Amino acid sequence: MGKEKKRIKLNTIKQKMNASIKNICCIGAGYVGGPTMAVIADKCLDISVHVVDINQKRIDAWNQSDLNNLPVYEPGLAEIIERTRDRNLFFSTEVNSAISNADMIFISVNTPTKTKGIGAGKASDLRWVEACARQVAKEGRNHTIVVEKSTLPVRTAETIKKILSSANQSSNKSSTFSVLSNPEFLAEGTAINDLENPDRVLIGGDDDSSIKALANVYEHWVSAEKILKTNLWSSELSKLTANAFLAQRITSINSVAAICEATGADVREVSLAIGKDSRIGSKFLNAGPGFGGSCFKKDILNLVYLCRYFGLEEVARYWEMVVTLNTWQQKRISQLTVNNLFGTITGKKIAVLGFAFKANTNDTRDSPAIQIINELLEEGAQLFIHDPKVNEGQIVQDLKRDSSKCLELANSNGGWVYASTIDSAVENADGLLILTEWPEYRELDWENISNLMRPPAWVFDARSVTNPSEIRKFGLNLWRIGDGSNQELI
Ligand code: NAD
Ligand code: UGA
Repeated sequence: MGKEKKRIKLNTIKQKMNASIKNICCIGAGYVGGPTMAVIADKCLDISVHVVDINQKRIDAWNQSDLNNLPVYEPGLAEIIERTRDRNLFFSTEVNSAISNADMIFISVNTPTKTKGIGAGKASDLRWVEACARQVAKEGRNHTIVVEKSTLPVRTAETIKKILSSANQSSNKSSTFSVLSNPEFLAEGTAINDLENPDRVLIGGDDDSSIKALANVYEHWVSAEKILKTNLWSSELSKLTANAFLAQRITSINSVAAICEATGADVREVSLAIGKDSRIGSKFLNAGPGFGGSCFKKDILNLVYLCRYFGLEEVARYWEMVVTLNTWQQKRISQLTVNNLFGTITGKKIAVLGFAFKANTNDTRDSPAIQIINELLEEGAQLFIHDPKVNEGQIVQDLKRDSSKCLELANSNGGWVYASTIDSAVENADGLLILTEWPEYRELDWENISNLMRPPAWVFDARSVTNPSEIRKFGLNLWRIGDGSNQELI
């Protein structure tokens, strides 16, 4: 077939496919792939959505009948899975066939920070993204729209395009590809609401028909004005920038919390006052134990790496400071816990309430609890850890040490026990440290807790979920994040 004829044929196929997407494949059945595809399947009855993963255990967990034990806990997710699974939503490890049958492929795999080699500790490790691109290049048929859903460094689309275009050269295939960037902005714990009612959907690309095809998918439930179209690089950079700005706000308010504690001000009052300024806005102004989660730190470090790569040293240092201060905040919490418990916690029992990086998720990746707990263990504390959604096995994995089945309180080496109830965590404890803002921690029975703890007992509220007068009424001492009213006690 002549070159021109072949081009016309491919374009016809392309237009036909793009007019309406019938088969979506999502590579990566994680915190983004699972919920995002569930919502697409729920809203688009005319599209068949296949979520594939190399992790058989994860796929089995998505397919199990017990909807309370899906691999991702998100309010509202189980109900959507119940009505979509095996209707037009399918989970499997059949990666190749899902790719071959798809008109549109979302790459939604992990992009963690590199741990070794060039850029270690800063740059994103793109090996999983590259592996996907190679597989798509090999298995893709006709015209396939490849959508970057993972968060990626600016200009990754260029690499993906190169890998995809090399497929035809090496194998005589006539398949074609276009690459779009469509970053995900959902936050864990509110993922379903964020997906169903997004502030915006961002599509970056240079191929109008593919952009239109992806926009059509979202327009099943998102109004067209909310769908922003940009060039590829703006889209990739917007995702890193959005996370950097959000993380920077948290670091800013955490730094103000420390000033409040030193001066007698109250960070809740300061947040309220500044948040009323419509130029500042009220969201993301809750002081806490430092931001956690799998993305903020990784994405800022990635931005820092890019800045240095492009010779923007001052800009790199500016963003790097957000991460430095976040680590400092976590250290501050463990240090003040020790200081208030008479400078030593060796052999003392402390109840830790909350291990997830935020409420309403079972995700513990980069949770501030991990660093804070490790520092307390280093000081010799005996920790009883409670979390409504995180299981013991996950904590073992994150702390990289087994739980002690029974703690010898006289033992000077730190140890931890998984507490299945709050009462068992606080019984005879000298301290109670709240690290995640789970709703049930707002409703604690302080009279009962004060009877169970060993006086003089301390409550450390790193999430500001408690009512100070309730706590003090029962003779407990309280440190609350950003609360300068108890400054003399620090
Ligand atoms: P995750 O680790 O939960 O899931 C990624 C999945 O991809 C894993 O199950 C893994 O087995 C699978 N995978 C890796 N390589 C594969 C391959 N070659 N073939 C098939 N499956 C493969 O990660 P996540 O939290 O879903 O994040 C995915 C991406 O989305 C990241 O780039 C992240 O930065 C971004 N993101 C995450 C969130 C969030 O809230 N977690 C929000 C927005 C964006
Ligand atoms: C964040 C962003 O909010 C999402 O838009 C983005 O898509 C996602 O990262 C991502 O790219 O992975 P997520 O990390 O799931 O979402 O949750 P957030 O609500 O942003 O919370 C992150 C951390 O900041 C948590 O540890 C949370 O407790 C903390 N935080 C948040 C505060 O300490 N104070 C606040 O006011 C808000």
